Amino acid sequence: MEIIPSLLVNSQEKFFAGLLGLGDCVRMLQIDIADGEFVPNVTWADPGIIAPRLRLECELHLMVKDPVGVAEKWRAVTQVKRVLFHYEASPDIPAVLQKLKTFGWEVSLVLNPETPLEAIEPYLSQIQGIMLMGIIPGFQGQPFIPATYERARRSKLMYPSHYLEIDGGVNENTIPGFIAAGVDAVCPGSAVFGHEKTPRENVARLQSLITGLTK
Ligand code: DX5
Repeated sequence: MEIIPSLLVNSQEKFFAGLLGLGDCVRMLQIDIADGEFVPNVTWADPGIIAPRLRLECELHLMVKDPVGVAEKWRAVTQVKRVLFHYEASPDIPAVLQKLKTFGWEVSLVLNPETPLEAIEPYLSQIQGIMLMGIIPGFQGQPFIPATYERARRSKLMYPSHYLEIDGGVNENTIPGFIAAGVDAVCPGSAVFGHEKTPRENVARLQSLITGLTK
C-alpha cells in the first residue's frame, strides 16, 4: 500500500515548507485544490510557481465545482500523473471525463462518504481509479468516519482492477483497517504535515507500520 501525502495549504510558504519537509521520501504527492464553492475552504496551489520546484510526481485532488477549468491550468505540468475529481461536483460527468481523457493523465472519481459506491458504475470503463473520502472533504484533521472501512472493502471487491485510494483520517490507527480492506494507496494529511515531527519522519513511521503489516 502506497503513501501519497496530501498537501492542503492556504499559502505558498506552507506549500513549500511541506514539500521541503517531504524531500524525496515518497514517489508521489497529492495536491489538494479547493475552490471555496464545492467545499468551504480555498487552497493555495499555483501551477506556474509549483512546477519548476517540484521533483515528485503528483496527483491533483480537485475539490472544485469546475474540474476541467482547474485541470486546464495544470495541463502543461509534466509532474501530474493523475487527476481526481468528485462525483458530487459535476452535473455532467461524461463531459468532464471526455475532456480529461485528452490530458493523458490517469483519472479517478472521488466519492464523498454519503455517496453510494454504485454511483460510479456507468463510468468504470473511463476511469482508472476510485478515491473514497474518510471525512467530509475540505479540511485536515477531521474525525474519521469508520464506515469507510467497509466501503473500501466493498469497493475493492466490486471494482478490483481500479486503483483504490483513501483520503481523510489516514493515520497509524486507521492504516491497519485499510490494509485489511485491500486499499492500494492512502493519502494522509495531518498525520504527515500537522504532526510535531517532520513530514519525512512521519512518512517513515507510517511506512514502517505498513511494511510490518504487509510482509
Ligand atoms: C480534506 C482533504 C484531505 C486532507 C486530509 O478534504 O481532501 O486530503 O488533506 O487530511 P487528514 O489526513 O488530516 O484527514
